[in-house]
Amino acid sequence: MALPELIYAPIDGGTIHRYEISGGKRKFLRFIGCYLGQCNFHKNIFMENRQINFFKSKDFNTVLKPFKKGTVVKIDSLDIRENQNELKIGLFGWYAICPSKELKKNKLNYFSLYNEPLVLYRDENENVRCIKNICPHRGASFFGGTLSNGVITCPYHGAKFSSGGSCQNLDRITCSHIVDNNYDNYAKRIHLSQYKALEKNGYIFVHYSKKSDTDLNNISEDSPIGNYDLTDNGFSEKDYVFEEALVDFKCDWSRIIENHLDILHLFWVHGDTIPDKDVNKNVLVSFNQKINVTPKYIESIYYYKNNPKNEFIRIKYIPPGRILIYKGDPSAARYLQVLDHIPLGDNKARVIVRHYRKFLQNKLLNNLLLFKENQRKIFYKIFDEDYMILKTQTYNHNMGYVSKDEIKLLGEDRIINYFWKWYKKSEDKDEPWRNINKTQNLNVYDKVIMKYPPEVKKLEIINNINIIRKTFIRFAAPLIFFMLII
Ligand code: FES
Ligand SMILES: [Fe+2]
Repeated sequence: MALPELIYAPIDGGTIHRYEISGGKRKFLRFIGCYLGQCNFHKNIFMENRQINFFKSKDFNTVLKPFKKGTVVKIDSLDIRENQNELKIGLFGWYAICPSKELKKNKLNYFSLYNEPLVLYRDENENVRCIKNICPHRGASFFGGTLSNGVITCPYHGAKFSSGGSCQNLDRITCSHIVDNNYDNYAKRIHLSQYKALEKNGYIFVHYSKKSDTDLNNISEDSPIGNYDLTDNGFSEKDYVFEEALVDFKCDWSRIIENHLDILHLFWVHGDTIPDKDVNKNVLVSFNQKINVTPKYIESIYYYKNNPKNEFIRIKYIPPGRILIYKGDPSAARYLQVLDHIPLGDNKARVIVRHYRKFLQNKLLNNLLLFKENQRKIFYKIFDEDYMILKTQTYNHNMGYVSKDEIKLLGEDRIINYFWKWYKKSEDKDEPWRNINKTQNLNVYDKVIMKYPPEVKKLEIINNINIIRKTFIRFAAPLIFFMLII
């Protein structure tokens, strides 16, 4: 007998199979439901990622009831909207690494991706470069070296690298000089290993792929950067202004993504901080939800239960690194949060948060109200609240993940469940952590790489001091002056 045919595989586990039996002259269709991921016929069912209409879950329950012998169920009556779409992107692709203005001229910017030490800088033509932090002569790190007009000098034996070196291929960064002229021929043959990097919309992006290369032409793109475009995601950037901040966490990158897909924590963890009357500890509510899955993104739209046409929040995950949170329908959202997630390494991750808003656009008023500083203070407070949860949620690819029977997800957590399945599948496929040398301890880099709150408080303290100083200059100083002259 042929294996039963899989007809339904919801993303939160379980399957329904159909098969035919015959009794005498008659044939019957039988359906068999396997619960909670235990499927005897389809071992890899978690990888199916089919989309269903969750609002029809009543129909689903009906189907799962045991069928009477010989019952024929018309498949169309199930009213399950199946969609063969699934995310085509894995963990390789473009990551926003920092805002453009953070990458200063003549400065080497050290970071890492999946534990691989990397350096970002601007070359002699101001183009962004992302190189492996290994000198191809004897493997020194460039830390302590210099960058001058696009020429990097290694701190160990003084090799000088630039894209305008003796090699004609501008996609290569070639050594132009090492020790003395006797080594000219040697110098011409050594190049820095790179990943693709570019600048767009005020961000520096790096394309992380299976392997870096000395010639950028040899690297093909795993996913187009256009996926991240806000206009293609229904949001018209020109009507908005934004503030942004960078935050560093000592926790796994995927914990932070989950946290940003977690709508319910907004009310409890940030209820007192988010300046929105809808988000409050006393207004804990559940939502109607719709999930869309396409090859480029997964999206979850939350509608008010008492007003099902009204959209509360829309969360869109665009792999590998970006999450968009729209307050309302994208074409008319009051604000949009763009969150870029950077997997620096083992329990080490960074987020760039950019908050676009339609309100309070007047520059003078913003200046007077210290809007930028106060917004940054709110960012730091919100991420500090998240960090309280995240820094002790230590499960990761090294220490093992939380198992399915240890947790029981709510309806609103479906997108997190989807993310999990995608993440595990992508990790197995891409193996981005392959560069980890288990014996290598990269903690020596922590001080160089980690620099933002909530992990490193320095910038938060500076921001608070700025608020006090500027408040004094704007309000207290004129008042004192006024009192002195009367
Ligand atoms: S290791 Fe860089 S010049 Fe020798
Ligand atoms: Fe949060």
